[in-house]
Amino acid sequence: MKILVTGGLGFIGSHTVVELQNEGLEVVIIDDCSNADEKVLEGIQTITGKRPLFEKIDLRDKSMVESFFARHQDVVGVIHFAASKAVGESVVKPLLYYENNIGTLVYILQALSQKQRASFIFSSSCTVYGQADEMPITEDAPVKAAESPYGNTKQIGEEIIADTCKVTPSLNAIALRYFNPMGAHPSVEIGELPIGVPQNLVPFITQTGMGIREQLAVFGDDYPTEDGTCIRDYIHVVDLAKAHVVALQRLLQAKNEENYEVFNVGTGKGSSVLEVIQSFERVSGEKLNYKIVDRRVGDIVSAYANTKKANQVLGWKAESTLDEAMKSAWDWEKKVRKA
Ligand code: WQD
Repeated sequence: MKILVTGGLGFIGSHTVVELQNEGLEVVIIDDCSNADEKVLEGIQTITGKRPLFEKIDLRDKSMVESFFARHQDVVGVIHFAASKAVGESVVKPLLYYENNIGTLVYILQALSQKQRASFIFSSSCTVYGQADEMPITEDAPVKAAESPYGNTKQIGEEIIADTCKVTPSLNAIALRYFNPMGAHPSVEIGELPIGVPQNLVPFITQTGMGIREQLAVFGDDYPTEDGTCIRDYIHVVDLAKAHVVALQRLLQAKNEENYEVFNVGTGKGSSVLEVIQSFERVSGEKLNYKIVDRRVGDIVSAYANTKKANQVLGWKAESTLDEAMKSAWDWEKKVRKA
């Protein structure tokens, strides 16, 4: 049984490949290396002792997707991470996002629909909820108008999968709606490698801690929250990776009731920006240089997951605390800067 992981050299993808291999599954990675480096394969092999198969393919080329599946007929499941994911960039380059995030999804689903039976895990996002009306957010919270083309590609992606599953009983799919992934593998062999100036909070914090960034700008402290800063659900990337393995096994073992299911993947706990900064200061023993600036356009006030469905149906629960996740992020940053 071979599992295809698209975008498997990326941050969440590489951590998921490690957990799949730990469960004894054979993995083949497709990555176009536009946002990840092939040397991530070394890190995976160092951790698990097994080097996954790897093919550098641009999934926007339909003929390449078709030839891959013809050569790997023993692929029984796909975990689809490959996508462009920078919210800001998606606003200025919408067509790049629709082509890459939607086009590639269609080609993979077309290939899987030809098989006797196929399992498909989709990397979705809590961005589909926009600013949800109630916290914590459940899976049946209404999907709101997307705030960016990136968020729209996740909404459209889920609809494409749902529509396809309705008429393709052989296709079994789960969409995992991530909250805010952070941290790195405890071996410090793989982790987050943002290109350029990090858009996300945690890598910006650790780079500021290393002196690579002068100062963290906190985007607003006048929100209607306890300390005035935005609240998110920060989940350790290894916990997130394990959720993919559990979801895939549910499909491989045909334990799913419906052939399309959706799960929130978070810790169920909300943390404010200032609480994340305090976590960094606790685990590093260093004061972080930051200042409060204006709000960032498009930010929502609060988003954290109701994880009951994943806990009860998948039998999965996030194990790591915010400090454990932050320590792994800090250990990784220190290692990367030494290399
Ligand atoms: C978190 C908080 C910022 C940077 C991201 C992706 C989204 C989804 C979830 C994939 C916010 C504040 C940030 C900084 C700051 N991922 N912040 N200074 O916006 O919740 O969403 O993760 O699907 O696509 O964009 O994450 O880390 O950017 O921001 O104050 O330099 O940190 O305002 O409140 P976000 P983030």
